[in-house]
Amino acid sequence: MTSRALGARPSLAAVAVLIVSWYVAATVPVRAQAPDIGTAEQRESGKKLYLKYCSQCHGEKGDGEGYASPHLYPKPRDFTSGKFKIRTTPSGKLPTDADLHHIIKVGMPYTSMPAWPHLTDAEIDNLVAYVKSFSPEFAKPDMAVYTFQRNSDGATVQSTDPGRGIRSGNFADLNKFKTPNLRGLAARAPYLHNGIAGTLLDVVRHYEVALGFVFTASEEADLVAFLTAL
Ligand code: HEC
Repeated sequence: MTSRALGARPSLAAVAVLIVSWYVAATVPVRAQAPDIGTAEQRESGKKLYLKYCSQCHGEKGDGEGYASPHLYPKPRDFTSGKFKIRTTPSGKLPTDADLHHIIKVGMPYTSMPAWPHLTDAEIDNLVAYVKSFSPEFAKPDMAVYTFQRNSDGATVQSTDPGRGIRSGNFADLNKFKTPNLRGLAARAPYLHNGIAGTLLDVVRHYEVALGFVFTASEEADLVAFLTAL
């Protein structure tokens, strides 16, 4: 293949839209919210506050390994993981700026995460920008959201992944997926389509990283026990 052809290769999502647009009319791609990691000035001011108030627990690198960390339970959040507990967003998604702002302001009861009522809203915004800079997840653009419209009646459906609709050509199949049968799973190691997970615990951990879940060790064990029982 020539380099020109390679360069001209459309993304998978663009191909999906092309194919679907053969049988549904006007396809209107709209971009989801652009990534926002604050201005350089905000991050710089946030860094100063962070090193003063937060790094003893969350670590200078944001990895949760500050010098006070070994004495704390639960452990201070590792910001490099991009995983957060308190969100108004769905499981596996990043928190909004407002979520982070709120938690920094009010703290987390029953943990060592203090409230910071004396910091101004602008100072907290700067801290939010700096905290977000520890994880590359925040700098990634959101997935493109596509709107599909049916010829016959103009009904629309939105999707980041049109699923079975791509194969069947049916509007009703947009956003539908076939999931593998999990019965007898325990006897079928290794797992995942390329066999990279040797055990069911590896599978659970794979999805924690991939989807941003934060499970405790006992929640992981519960999931493995459940999967083993299928
Ligand atoms: C005395 C230790 C300590 C200090 C100081 C501290 N934190 Fe935390 N922080 C924690 C702990 C512990 C948690 C995790 C609690 C949990 O997992 O339930 C946490 C959690 C968080 C979270 C994650 C909330 C979530 O939804 O998962 C954010 C954001 C945060 N801290 C920001 C800050 C900022 C910004 C500062 C400085 C202004 C700060 N923390 C100072 C201990 C601390």
